[in-house]
Amino acid sequence: MTKMIEVIGLKKNFKHTQALKDVTFHVDAGEVVGYIGPNGAGKSTTIRILLGILHASGGEAKIFGKDVWKDALKIHEKIAYVPGDVNLWPNLTGGQVIDLFMKLQGSSANQARREELIQKFELDPKKKARSYSKGNRQKIALIAALASDADLYIFDEPTSGLDPLMEAVFQEEVEKIKAQGKAILLSSHILSEVERLCDRVAIIRQGEIIEEGTLEDLRHLTRFQYHVETKEEPIGLKDVCAVHDLVITGKKAVFQAESDKINEILQAIMPYHVVKLESQPPTLEELFMRHYEGK
Ligand SMILES: Nc1ncnc2c1ncn2[C@@H]1O[C@H](COP(=O)(O)OP(=O)(O)OP(=O)(O)O)[C@@H](O)[C@H]1O
Ligand SMILES: [Mg+2]
Repeated sequence: MTKMIEVIGLKKNFKHTQALKDVTFHVDAGEVVGYIGPNGAGKSTTIRILLGILHASGGEAKIFGKDVWKDALKIHEKIAYVPGDVNLWPNLTGGQVIDLFMKLQGSSANQARREELIQKFELDPKKKARSYSKGNRQKIALIAALASDADLYIFDEPTSGLDPLMEAVFQEEVEKIKAQGKAILLSSHILSEVERLCDRVAIIRQGEIIEEGTLEDLRHLTRFQYHVETKEEPIGLKDVCAVHDLVITGKKAVFQAESDKINEILQAIMPYHVVKLESQPPTLEELFMRHYEGK
């Protein structure tokens, strides 16, 4: 099966900065992949290379099996893109800009869908683009992209200028595209958005992918938080290797443990007569933060 996006050992050097050192990841058909990392990690650089706007210094980047630099024209017929910071033609109205974007994206105009999205995003398409706020400019690019019939959608921090209500509209619309089996690459700082929408994530830091996989896979590597209440003080937990950061307060214990150590944990607490046991998987935020602590 041809991969929608395939990036292998991608490198990009600017004059004084090595923005991408070694970036490898892929997006399969029908997959939504989150591309996350701190400011300056290399997300937008990767995306600009994928769009054929920047030339890579090394490695491979392909979309639909085609070279992103040489075959940019062919590729752009079937992709839709929204940058985090949208620049518009100041003297055109919002509606005209949406039409222009849709033409540039090579998609046949789907008027009904365009109208539906304008309503949902509460955009006034008659205003001149110069008078739109950052959020409204972003809505214009989003409407054009979401109304396009693309095979692959690339979003670079698409909700950075939107209020929470509009962010929710964006998420609903992405879910619709996802349900149609389209592929999506979503770079985002909003981890709840990534958790809701993405099948897999790739985490980039200082130009290198440091983790890649499904959220389940990544969570598996990370500790769950346990809350236990027992009839007797569960002091035996102190001797269990799998238990970390244990705090016992009377008959209650709070600790962390790897998800696959549940059996050991159960055996250790059973003798104290369990009244309550709760476990919480790590949030994406916790997973993410882990990589910025001394690694
Ligand atoms: N045109 C350029 N010339 C020189 N350096 C650049 C250029 N574009 C990006 N960089 C540098 O490359 C690195 C990666 O930047 P990039 O914009 O890809 O990060 P990002 O992950 O998108 O960050 P953010 O979350 O802030 O959008 C940064 O150190 C940045 O300063
Ligand atoms: Mg960026």
